[in-house]
Amino acid sequence: MELNLTGKTAIVTGGSAGIGLACATALFAEGVSVLIVGRNPQRLEQAAEVITAAVAGDKDRVLPIVADLTDAGDVQRVETGAIKRLGRIDILINCAGSARAGAFFELSDQDFLDAWKLKLLGYIRMVRAVVPHMAARKDGRIVNIIGAAGRTPPATFLAGSTTNAALINFTRGISKELARDNIRINAISPGSTVTERSKRLVRQTAAAKGISVDEVMAETVGSIPTGRLVEPSEVADLALFLVSDRAASITGAEILLDGGRTPGM
Ligand SMILES: NC(=O)c1ccc[n+]([C@@H]2O[C@H](COP(=O)([O-])OP(=O)(O)OC[C@H]3O[C@@H](n4cnc5c(N)ncnc54)[C@H](OP(=O)(O)O)[C@@H]3O)[C@@H](O)[C@H]2O)c1
Repeated sequence: MELNLTGKTAIVTGGSAGIGLACATALFAEGVSVLIVGRNPQRLEQAAEVITAAVAGDKDRVLPIVADLTDAGDVQRVETGAIKRLGRIDILINCAGSARAGAFFELSDQDFLDAWKLKLLGYIRMVRAVVPHMAARKDGRIVNIIGAAGRTPPATFLAGSTTNAALINFTRGISKELARDNIRINAISPGSTVTERSKRLVRQTAAAKGISVDEVMAETVGSIPTGRLVEPSEVADLALFLVSDRAASITGAEILLDGGRTPGM
């Protein structure tokens, strides 16, 4: 399918690992110039090498930028850095998030605040930063990587699930206003996806439930009708479609990508 993304520019937060890295790689392969954002400079450099090794293309089209997205000043730096280095911002993939799992009575206020600050406020701040640039050109495409726990909250992941529920609400709400400037914003909610983070979550969940990592994995896989975890590249493929003109009438949507695990509506 021709996506016509060649020559476009994108910011991918959390682009140095997992789902964000897969999204950045897929965009790069389509001819997009990609600014990848994360805290660890070495990880960003390695990611840039992974991206340019995976597919042929001009290495200058991958631009790492070190930033901590819990910090409003760093969000501002990403915005100005993107304009300076990319010239304009066509696409934003919001993907930096890292809530910890744990039994409710073991989670502190700080655990909740950390999750909300990075992912909820971080995604909202990034949207606020890029929208004026997109509105000026009457074209913008935003994808928020949220998570199936926003609809189906596990008792051991409430800092993450409350973040995700709020972000679904935000995505739907703001889509109405952004549509006036031809900016589309959508959400992808993956189920358990094969990344470093999901391995960490499995360990934290095992500790919270007092069972082994293997038992948590067996429970997780057993509850997924397709019988396996999601691959990051599957999330990236959907993100590519959503930021392309092929999805021109899709905005304010949340698409579940969870192997059929979510019950009901
Ligand atoms: N994996 C899953 O099963 C799953 C399921 C549903 C939803 N999701 C969501 O998908 C998104 C990506 O998850 P993932 O599993 O791909 O995570 P991951 O593999 O841990 O990657 C996280 C990325 O975010 C960056 N990051 C973390 N904290 C940051 C901060 N304060 N400022 C800037 N960048 C930061 C990391 O780089 P640095 O550490 O160097 O900063 C890394 O690039 C998250 O929002 C997550 O909630 C994941």
